[in-house]
Amino acid sequence: MATPPCPPTIVPTMSVSSGQGAIRTSQATITSAPVASMPGREASQHEAGSPVSPCRQSSRPGPVMSSQSALGLPRQVSIATKTATAVIAQALEVVELHMAFDRFNPASPLVRQQLLGKLGLPTNAAINEMQGFKGGLNEGIWFISMSGAMDLVLKLVRCNRIANNVLTEAENFTKIARQHSSMYTDPVVAFPLKIFSCLDRAGNKRNDLIVMPKVRGERLAEWIARKFYNKQVPLMMQVFERVGGKLAEFHSRYGNAQHGDFQPSNIFYDEERGDIRFIDIGGMDVPTTETDVQHFVRSLELLAETYGKQLVHQGRRSFEQGYRSKSS
Ligand SMILES: Nc1ncnc2c1ncn2[C@@H]1O[C@H](COP(=O)(O)OP(=O)(O)OP(=O)(O)O)[C@@H](O)[C@H]1O
Ligand SMILES: [Mg+2]
Repeated sequence: MATPPCPPTIVPTMSVSSGQGAIRTSQATITSAPVASMPGREASQHEAGSPVSPCRQSSRPGPVMSSQSALGLPRQVSIATKTATAVIAQALEVVELHMAFDRFNPASPLVRQQLLGKLGLPTNAAINEMQGFKGGLNEGIWFISMSGAMDLVLKLVRCNRIANNVLTEAENFTKIARQHSSMYTDPVVAFPLKIFSCLDRAGNKRNDLIVMPKVRGERLAEWIARKFYNKQVPLMMQVFERVGGKLAEFHSRYGNAQHGDFQPSNIFYDEERGDIRFIDIGGMDVPTTETDVQHFVRSLELLAETYGKQLVHQGRRSFEQGYRSKSS
């Protein structure tokens, strides 16, 4: 059933820095809901030890899936063989993509052809740029859709390190893939299937393009807004508790590695199926001064002005209770 639209709300500019990066609500904008758009990490992927020059990841170790592998199939199918699983445990595939211009543009026939070809997708797959709030740190988001297959997300990100010891998002994904290979098949997280190094006409790397499954549902930030205006507070509390539980399970699965920017814009909720999914995990396992629990709680507190202190207090209690109940 369609939900009535929420009344327009002005979201004030707000910025709080943290060990996990800034939690920011969006610039003063009129939106259809008090969306807690909280762009996450400002600086993230710290790597101890030897600095590596920026944009070096185009020479990653060998292919995980051949260009023939149909990413249009569910992930479990594309990695079904024992051999493939073993290879995946070692590396996330990074391949080159040659651009006709200096900037990635999937409307360019050259780019489109390579992209779909290297992903093993049909030539008639639709690629559409994301509209509306697209996050804070990326340089573009697109969706690939085709009938009878899972939808994909393309996230264009910077390829140069902001400091010598700070990994790029793509580098950090490669690191996570090596350390936590089971993440490839973890349905709770949107883990990359492939990363493209986008090269300009002169062969210089301009960006990384992260390809990942598109998760169903909507950002928890928007979902909260709708439920608030529909006065469905008890349901909200149940979901907060489940989010806490999912986070605790995630921490247990990955040796207490932290998501790195755990807040309502990076959590998706599919109300129809009841599924909770985590996105934006490129800063996972990066040392921070805040834990995921603290970061999420702080992101809730920023909502107090819009939803009131009582709701936020209740939300925090439910979330923490859920977390405790599933902590090992
Ligand atoms: N796997 C995914 N499935 C569905 N939507 C996605 C996925 N990844 C990204 N998006 C959409 O793109 C937006 C931006 O993605 P993401 O949060 O990863 O970018 P970001 O620039 O790191 O954002 P921020 O720093 O603001 O958290 C998300 O808010 C979401 O709407
Ligand atoms: Mg995000």
